[in-house]
Amino acid sequence: MSVLPNSLLQALHAVLGDAGLIRDAERMHSYLSDWRNAYKGQAALVLRPASTEEVAAAVRLCSEAGVALVPQGGNTGLCGGSIPDESGAQVVLSLTRMTRIRDVDVGNETITVEAGVVLQRLQEAAAEVGRLFPLSLGAEGSCTVGGNLATNAGGTAVLRYGNMRDLALGLEVVLPNGRIWNGLRGLRKDNTGYDLKQLFIGAEGTLGIITAAVLKLFPAVRSLTTAWVALPSPQAAVELLGQMRSLCGDRLTGFELMSRQSLEFVLRHVAGCNDLFAEVHSWYVLIELSDTLFDAPLNDMLERGLAEAFEQGTVLDAVVASSQSQVAALWALREGISEAQNHEGPSLKHDISVPVSSIAAFVAEADKRLQQAFPGVRIVAYGHVGDGNLHYNISKPLGAEDAGFKAQAQAIMHVIFDVTASFAGSISAEHGLGQSKRDAARHYKDPLELELMRSIKQTLDPAGLMNPGKLL
Ligand code: FAD
Ligand code: MLT
Ligand code: ZN
Repeated sequence: MSVLPNSLLQALHAVLGDAGLIRDAERMHSYLSDWRNAYKGQAALVLRPASTEEVAAAVRLCSEAGVALVPQGGNTGLCGGSIPDESGAQVVLSLTRMTRIRDVDVGNETITVEAGVVLQRLQEAAAEVGRLFPLSLGAEGSCTVGGNLATNAGGTAVLRYGNMRDLALGLEVVLPNGRIWNGLRGLRKDNTGYDLKQLFIGAEGTLGIITAAVLKLFPAVRSLTTAWVALPSPQAAVELLGQMRSLCGDRLTGFELMSRQSLEFVLRHVAGCNDLFAEVHSWYVLIELSDTLFDAPLNDMLERGLAEAFEQGTVLDAVVASSQSQVAALWALREGISEAQNHEGPSLKHDISVPVSSIAAFVAEADKRLQQAFPGVRIVAYGHVGDGNLHYNISKPLGAEDAGFKAQAQAIMHVIFDVTASFAGSISAEHGLGQSKRDAARHYKDPLELELMRSIKQTLDPAGLMNPGKLL
């Protein structure tokens, strides 16, 4: 039995039809828990509108009835942002039927897509016109453009192309009262006041529902080289990053760091992954260079950089991929970490950032304090070191019970965030606050910034019906 009034259900059905409404508990199931099964909720209903007008009508009806909405895309978010609370009174609004590519303007180097387009489909659509859409992340086969925008997703190419905030030129948004804001402008320069689209990017669905976006396209990549490199320490990785950057400039498109613990999880749990060196090393980086030329001398540059670093002792061993399948095999070692960690029990995720120059000191201090306070926890540190962003994830000590470990989650998080704060870092560089870091943000974020955020929320969503309980 739905907790919603019959009149609202009938009005929603009249707008969305059978295809746009899910009431059956079994069919709702996949919308009510996240990828890791870390968050579970209940919903009165799942709505699946197929157009902006349908989204607007559904939002207006829910707003008039005082019903809270939880926007959802591919449901790959890692902080519980797309999962309703346990009251059963909230309504999930899934954008996954809004999958049209509305326009490709090659002359303007832009593509206009609806919010439910899966990231991989967007990448393919760009490739079909000889262009690149550069956002790239492990969940790209399932996550959607709307979710990428709402979380300001980052991924493995931010070093060269920036995150979703940098890739968006215009947005179409259904506001909490059901009005449609058409900001689908493909302009690279527009100084007519506040840049309103940036309010909705990274807002995690708390200010409105993103229904479409104009995104930047880039020249296609025509040569690429990828290497897997062993190093003695995170400091060596930061030094190598600086060296490769000054040698290769913008050709350096990927620079991902992984601890031995991260690699061990992948080797144990991801089929087809193998250690590439005979010796065990403490740290690894995956380096990728790319260029728009067919015959760019990327291998020469990479080998030159690595040889210099080898002389200096920053690099201990390296292997350069010589085929497409080897490139894929190197990326599998990196991209497999999230999945592999799930096999080791609950994973506590911390997507922190600090200045790149502080990465090594952060790791040393956080490792020390954690092992003192929680002996035996397994630290799974890896990530986008070129952006100063580490996934400093934690798995339970070998043999420990899940429940006891989960009970320590908040205390572990506070140790990590205290160290992050001591380096003037951010408690969330990529995944957002969602449910998992909302309370922590109250503690670690500047009170004035929180006050300004609350006043923006109050202006756009005075009744607090857009994704309540998330972010703020
Ligand atoms: P969802 O999970 O459905 O939603 C995420 C948030 O956005 C929620 O708060 C939701 O309410 C809101 N939202 C969704 N759609 C809309 C909309 N149309 N309008 C308004 N709000 C909306 N993230 C990174 O940044 N970098 C990574 O490298 C990365 N790697 C990942 C690897 C794996 C294996 C997994 C599972 C996740 C990874 N993520 C990463 C996390 C995740 O943020 C991204 O997968 C993605 O951006 C989420 O998109 P989604 O469509 O699944 O959004
Ligand atoms: C990644 O970069 O692989 C994800 O953002 C990190 C994670 O799953 O914790
Ligand atoms: Zn990441």
